[in-house]
Amino acid sequence: MSDRVYIFDTTLRDGEQSPGATMNAKEKVRIASRLEALGVDIMEAGFPAASEGDFAAVQDVAAVCQKSSVAGLARTSKSDIDKAWGAVQHAKHPRIHTFIATSDIHLEHKLKMNREQVVEAAVNAVKYAKSFTDDVEFSAEDGSRSDRDYLCRVFEAAIAAGATTVNLPDTVGYAIPHEFAELVKYVMDHTPNIHQAILSVHCHNDLGLATSNTLAAIQAGARQAEVTVNGIGERAGNTSLEEVVMAMHTRPNYLDFHTNIVTEQIHPASRLVRMITGIMVQPNKAIVGANAFAHEAGIHQDGVLKNPMTYEIMRPETVGLSKNNMVLGKHSGRHALRSHLADMGYVLSDEELQDLFIKFKDLADKKKHVVDEDLEALVSIGILRT
Ligand code: KIV
Ligand code: ZN
Repeated sequence: MSDRVYIFDTTLRDGEQSPGATMNAKEKVRIASRLEALGVDIMEAGFPAASEGDFAAVQDVAAVCQKSSVAGLARTSKSDIDKAWGAVQHAKHPRIHTFIATSDIHLEHKLKMNREQVVEAAVNAVKYAKSFTDDVEFSAEDGSRSDRDYLCRVFEAAIAAGATTVNLPDTVGYAIPHEFAELVKYVMDHTPNIHQAILSVHCHNDLGLATSNTLAAIQAGARQAEVTVNGIGERAGNTSLEEVVMAMHTRPNYLDFHTNIVTEQIHPASRLVRMITGIMVQPNKAIVGANAFAHEAGIHQDGVLKNPMTYEIMRPETVGLSKNNMVLGKHSGRHALRSHLADMGYVLSDEELQDLFIKFKDLADKKKHVVDEDLEALVSIGILRT
């Protein structure tokens, strides 16, 4: 049996840190329900100390999630941890995620603390978080640029204080795969109590290597991947959920791991995140870009018609792309519209459908074909109005 990799989704926290991606509570809850359907193990719903609005949003997400654990982010201060716990305490599976930087550059210029003080802050934070919940994650911010032995020391102390997950972030997207795998292996070999916790990785995409670094880390022993839908996140973004999951799914001989992700939910989740954040994905984006399954060259089209596996390494249906080739226009009825929307991942009540149907007919009178992007826009108008 292959090893399980836990998927920690931070679309609602690090993803929200993409410029312009701010979400209100209602939008976060809508995405959270979709993330549960997708099967993420943990979702980081926000940073409750950041604002009253985010505190309330995390509370709302915690109230609706039944299967996924819900994490709130906190610095190492008691007040941050109080806020994080206040926001997630009613979740079925609450997690507090506390972090502090461990690289010398952050210690000297940002925190103005020495190494001993940082170890102490980490230990106190984990112990305090542990007084609220058993499920505590500790992150060593800028871990990939930290002194290796010091990093191991901080992880050892955090685990001894009660952390059940320790996370190694490549905060500034500086690592390269071989080097990052070596670092993960070093941590596995030099942190005496590492087997009492799950080692997690959290990569940023500044060099376009977030997915490669995450996969290399998993091969080296990490068992939690921190990701976002569509790879949105601070600066160039975070590791994209769909890329990591589908790499493991498509190449089991080399990546002999499994996740709990329902791959058919990938496209519906991607669409919802695009629609709510307003952040589109580039057409050639792996798995979820508009051209990811489009074949332009005649030779390719011929091959795919004869056998899709000639030019497709995964079936579009596997990632939830609609098989439905029906063209929607002014002659289409409610039933066709409902079934097309269901294929796109939108399940509407009769009342919502009726409302949308009127708008759809109105648009179809002005346009030859109503395409998925039009439907998304119509659905989003409905969401904004309610
Ligand atoms: O990139 C980072 O280091 C983070 C931490 C808070 C985990 O987002
Ligand atoms: Zn991050």
